[in-house]
Amino acid sequence: MPEKYEIVTKKVLTPDISSISVYAPLIARKARAGQFIILRATDGGERIPLTVSSVSGELVTVVYQKVGDSTMTLDELAEGECLCDFVGPLGEPTPTEGVKRAAVVGGGLGCAIALPVAKALHDAGAKVDLIGGFRTKDIVILEDEMRSACDELTICTDDGSYGYAGFTTGKLEELLKAGERYDRVYAIGPLVMMKFVCKLTERYDIPTIVSMNPIMIDGTGMCGCCRVTVDGEVKFACVDGPDFDGHKIDFDETIARAATYKEFEQRRRAEHKCRLEGMNNG
Ligand SMILES: Cc1cc2nc3c(=O)[nH]c(=O)nc-3n(C[C@H](O)[C@H](O)[C@H](O)COP(=O)(O)OP(=O)(O)OC[C@H]3O[C@@H](n4cnc5c(N)ncnc54)[C@H](O)[C@@H]3O)c2cc1C
Ligand code: FES
Repeated sequence: MPEKYEIVTKKVLTPDISSISVYAPLIARKARAGQFIILRATDGGERIPLTVSSVSGELVTVVYQKVGDSTMTLDELAEGECLCDFVGPLGEPTPTEGVKRAAVVGGGLGCAIALPVAKALHDAGAKVDLIGGFRTKDIVILEDEMRSACDELTICTDDGSYGYAGFTTGKLEELLKAGERYDRVYAIGPLVMMKFVCKLTERYDIPTIVSMNPIMIDGTGMCGCCRVTVDGEVKFACVDGPDFDGHKIDFDETIARAATYKEFEQRRRAEHKCRLEGMNNG
């Protein structure tokens, strides 16, 4: 039997994105689409929130992008090694009840988070169009998994190198103009993409859920770091979300707050020292 929080499988999906399946039976039993875990790769490391992408038996899979110090440290762990902490499931599950016809829109890494939402809707009998957007063909991830979690998958690339040429909003608008009427749209990805999906669905009066990923520290509603303004009220993404009514989110405020630590993060990324460095030099 694997050890607690052991990385049982690790897959490289693109040079920047990998997935790990972690032995965590209690979380596997409870986790639902849209929920996340907080992990620490090593003792003394930073707590990082990652969304549960899938569950299989006693394994919980998360997909991560190497964007900075902590995700790079996580990436240095190999199959058979154990994470220091793996806590969850946290947050509210994505609301899917009563939806019969849905469009799920994922952007880049957001597709790993859109996947369980599409699957939950599809498994409950909803007809699901899944639209996954990527900058270019080489960084398309989880295509087979997404195809089996929906009725119709469209991969979009910004540069037109694969699938629909253009943004996810372009494809969604095409479907809406062609007469598709969704009970609900789900948008998960970069803030700018979610903002423009919401502007579009507002015109068609389609309720839209977005997944907000502000910086989180404790993940329990105590620190206030993950606050977002929803319909003029302060909400905490870790306990009230991460999903919210996209038509009520103050995207401009969230986009401005997301840039607060950019300089510090860039410095940490530049300073990051791989723990494997020099191991082969005797
Ligand atoms: C609810 C939630 C779910 C998420 N799910 C995923 C996922 O499935 N896969 C994935 O790759 N990423 C996910 N993220 C983002 C992920 O947590 C950050 O990429 C990670 O914490 C970056 O840490 P770093 O030290 O490597 O990078 P840093 O250099 O510290 O930061 C890079 C960027 O990551 C974001 N970030 C940094 N620290 C945090 C933090 N404590 N909480 C949230 N965001 C942070 C910021 O936007 C920052 O600009 C999620 C975030 C939240 C809040
Ligand atoms: S992360 Fe601290 S309140 Fe949400």
